[in-house]
Amino acid sequence: MKGPTHAMRIIAHPSPVLKERASEVEPASDADLRQLAAKMAHAMYEAPGVGLAAPQVGVQKRVLVFDVDEGLGVLCNPVIVSRSAQTEVDEEGCLSLPGLSVPVERSVALVCEALDLDGEPVTVEAEGLLARVIQHEIDHLDGVLIIDRATPEERRAAIRRYNEIHDPVG
Ligand code: NI
Repeated sequence: MKGPTHAMRIIAHPSPVLKERASEVEPASDADLRQLAAKMAHAMYEAPGVGLAAPQVGVQKRVLVFDVDEGLGVLCNPVIVSRSAQTEVDEEGCLSLPGLSVPVERSVALVCEALDLDGEPVTVEAEGLLARVIQHEIDHLDGVLIIDRATPEERRAAIRRYNEIHDPVG
């Protein structure tokens, strides 16, 4: 398939790179971060998806991008500093688990502190889809996938479905 030469491949489960904790970054002194974020955004829009974390393109840095139709957001070293007690279960997909969706319980609202690409502190107050996306992408930075958030029964069923889609012989 033809595409821009700078296109990044999104890594699919199973891969060890999706199971590791990514490292904190220093945006002010990391000259590669801006280009990384741009490439991640490109891959996210191409997919298309609403969020992407750096480990999904094989980079173990705590960087995520998102766009829930409110423009592109980039967060470095994101930390959820508060979250609503209220949670909601909804079907969630993942670009690293193509074809799969599983019910995942998430907080409906949260406050996230992070750094922008200049190294300046930013605070994101999110609810609904954006809150869900931020929780999902921060999970990626900790090596956690949606199948890890499902109940044991849902996890078994989801892995069986996923293997049927991606390895019809097995
Ligand atoms: Ni994902």
